[in-house]
Amino acid sequence: MSRSKGNGEGRSVTLHVVSSLDGFIAKPDNSVSWLDSTGSVYQAGASISEEETAAFVKAIDCYVLGSRTYEHALELGWPYGDTPAVVVTGREWPPAEKSVEFYSGDLKTLVDVKLAPRYRNIWLVGGAMLCQRFLELGLVDEIRLTIAPVLLGEGLRLFGGSPAEERWNLKNVVAYKNGLVELSYSAPIA
Ligand SMILES: NC(=O)c1ccc[n+]([C@@H]2O[C@H](COP(=O)([O-])OP(=O)(O)OC[C@H]3O[C@@H](n4cnc5c(N)ncnc54)[C@H](OP(=O)(O)O)[C@@H]3O)[C@@H](O)[C@H]2O)c1
Repeated sequence: MSRSKGNGEGRSVTLHVVSSLDGFIAKPDNSVSWLDSTGSVYQAGASISEEETAAFVKAIDCYVLGSRTYEHALELGWPYGDTPAVVVTGREWPPAEKSVEFYSGDLKTLVDVKLAPRYRNIWLVGGAMLCQRFLELGLVDEIRLTIAPVLLGEGLRLFGGSPAEERWNLKNVVAYKNGLVELSYSAPIA
């Protein structure tokens, strides 16, 4: 699978998910309390101010998410504000927030034809099924994997079934005071 151009002048697709220590991104009942409060304190860790978080989030041009993640996000309260968001689905949906668009079809066309001309900093925010398809198609330029200090025991596996073996390049590691660790990887060079 040849990787479409994502760096330099063009768009970049960042896959971001939070995983438990044992590799799950959701509990069987979808509850997310394990994400909210880690209960862990790592004194040497970094902290990030609300202003820094806001500036970081402001730099994201567009979110892409699978329909099951969309359903869950609606239940919890829409977290993406007015930033454009594309929900990948084969179903018909009732009218949504103005910033939300539904997309059905080829994912490479979505990224290269629909999103790339409009957005540079594109964030794929789950779930497992959609992330796996993006990885299989070589559409991800960066993986940001946040590890939460918790074992869940069961749930939805990160990336579902494993895609083919592929070596990624570690670019950065940040450990936070609350025990979360963020690992950033860039895509293998084709
Ligand atoms: N821990 C985290 O960071 C994190 C992040 C995101 C989500 N989550 C959790 O993950 C769970 C959802 O993940 P999931 O893997 O079950 O589902 P998902 O990836 O969010 O959504 C799957 C749906 O996306 C659509 N889809 C996927 N690939 C497609 C394609 N190639 N073409 C057309 N449509 C496609 C289909 O929608 P239709 O069925 O509508 O056709 C499919 O059923 C939720 O519990 C959510 O809370 C956790």
